[in-house]
Amino acid sequence: MGKFQLKWGMLATGGIAETFGRDILLNPETRGIQDIEHVIVAAAASSSQSRARAFLDKIGAPESAVAYGTYKELAQDPNVDIIYISTPHSHHYQHCMLCLEAGKNVLCEKAFTTNAEQLKVLIQKAKEKNVFLMEAAWTRYFPLSLYVRRQIESGVIGTVYRTFADLSMLSPPESLPDSHRLVSPNLAGGVLLDTGIYALTWVFQTLFTTQPNPVAPAVLSTLRKNRLGTDEQVSILLTFPREKDGDAHGIATASVRTSTDPDERGTAGPAVRIQGSKGEIQVSRPAFRPTKTRIIFTDGKVEEKDWPQPGPGLGSGWYNGFRNEVGGVMDQEGEGHGMFWEADECAFALRDGRKQSQHHTLAESLVVMQVMDLVRAQNSIRFPEEIETTDYPVAI
Ligand SMILES: NC(=O)c1ccc[n+]([C@@H]2O[C@H](COP(=O)([O-])OP(=O)(O)OC[C@H]3O[C@@H](n4cnc5c(N)ncnc54)[C@H](OP(=O)(O)O)[C@@H]3O)[C@@H](O)[C@H]2O)c1
Repeated sequence: MGKFQLKWGMLATGGIAETFGRDILLNPETRGIQDIEHVIVAAAASSSQSRARAFLDKIGAPESAVAYGTYKELAQDPNVDIIYISTPHSHHYQHCMLCLEAGKNVLCEKAFTTNAEQLKVLIQKAKEKNVFLMEAAWTRYFPLSLYVRRQIESGVIGTVYRTFADLSMLSPPESLPDSHRLVSPNLAGGVLLDTGIYALTWVFQTLFTTQPNPVAPAVLSTLRKNRLGTDEQVSILLTFPREKDGDAHGIATASVRTSTDPDERGTAGPAVRIQGSKGEIQVSRPAFRPTKTRIIFTDGKVEEKDWPQPGPGLGSGWYNGFRNEVGGVMDQEGEGHGMFWEADECAFALRDGRKQSQHHTLAESLVVMQVMDLVRAQNSIRFPEEIETTDYPVAI
């Protein structure tokens, strides 16, 4: 049987689109995947067709890939199987609707939408059109994450009582222009939707995803605002009720005023600690792309594991990684960034006829969006109506 080929269209050509595009063009065999293949067949930039062409050339897409100067043309391209949406999260709702209405399968960057009501409409629309929809919560697809969830589910650290998760990166808001995604209310700015989502991802994938019948948590939160009234530091306490073991607590924090890793050498310890009756699992920083785990058992035994990011390797001259103005860093030569695993899940789902991820249901994405809505409501953060609305189409 031949390989299953997934034909991607890229909606937006910014920083993360470049990292994702370069990663999915790597040969899946470098990560032990034999039966699928990713091809980039088109890209669209809202600014100009020439920007889309330059993007395709830069990431090494095939020459046959088509460049569009509008997102609408991409959504209507019959050669595209799935669209990767990587506009700012304020725009995800409008752009997901554009693609779903056109009958396209969609992988949408985090945060999925501005609020839970928007996500509800998208889930309904995907169902109506019978297409696949998934949040690009890439960290959940790392073999490292699968391993951590398996350890929890099989009781390796006993009953889990608490997870601490932090994603804090020094990036003082005064060094950013008012228009920046991390601060601008017009782009649903602030740390909650931008990086807080990773701390929540770890709390959820350890205390919610691992439960047979998960229940939405109770939420208490506080945050600190920047000059534009969006959040620059957020602390969230979550109580997860469980049938068998009673409540579990999640503590999710994010900040641009402090750092999980102040000297950037990992000396400050793990970004995530999952604590159970028989020991704890520690996950290295940064919470979005960890490469090490350590299990410390109450009897003194310690199990450490490295989780390298496969790629073409040293000597390949191939580099990937974040390259944005907020302290972007490149990965080592030949090292993948790790975004291909979520793309592989899209391919497996479409090959097998599934309409959502097997590792992260749309129902769970919705609960996380509801938690973020609650945090914003508890701290009086509201964005402009045109990005909170469920109306479609709205020009923003
Ligand atoms: N998974 C991850 O690790 C990760 C990392 C960073 C960001 N993200 C997420 O990915 C999304 C994009 O982030 P990014 O870092 O790639 O941002 P970026 O570099 O600023 O790129 C955003 C792209 O969206 C397009 N766009 C359309 N309307 C826009 C508007 N009104 N304002 C600004 N840009 C607009 C832009 O133009 P063109 O259409 O012309 O290209 C631009 O290329 C965000 O939701 C963010 O949370 C995820």
